[in-house]
Amino acid sequence: MRIIIGSDHGGYELKQKLVRHLDEQGYDYVDIGTDSQESCDYNDFAKKVAEGVASGDYDRGITICGTGIGTSIQANKVKGIRCALVHDLFTAKATREHNDSNVLSMGGRIIGDELAKAIMDVWLTTEFSGDERHQRRVGKLEE
Ligand code: RB5
Repeated sequence: MRIIIGSDHGGYELKQKLVRHLDEQGYDYVDIGTDSQESCDYNDFAKKVAEGVASGDYDRGITICGTGIGTSIQANKVKGIRCALVHDLFTAKATREHNDSNVLSMGGRIIGDELAKAIMDVWLTTEFSGDERHQRRVGKLEE
């Protein structure tokens, strides 16, 4: 699985911790920045993450800003992207099983590091259920 991860300044600290966690687990990933806490626009990083997944170059994307809201809205503007804003373990699993989400958004100012790592782990390892009803609904999202 190839992963693309990016954040704005509000998500920078959490991104650094998630990148370390991806490293420790041996995931194949690319970190597209930002590379400091200097103010920048979440749009640019979320768009790049989303386009990386939509193009097929990456299987999954992870995008972080202060709240996770701006990055999720921006990512969902890219055709083919189903970005889920997640701050708990139940929805991390449910959005994979039900929505086949291909981008995960989180807010670095909202959740603690350990919960964020656990959410990422669950989201990366949960498969789409493939049930007919969920496939139909995801199909409607794509329309
Ligand atoms: C940046 O201050 C902040 O607005 C951004 O990280 C994000 O929370 C936007 O949704």
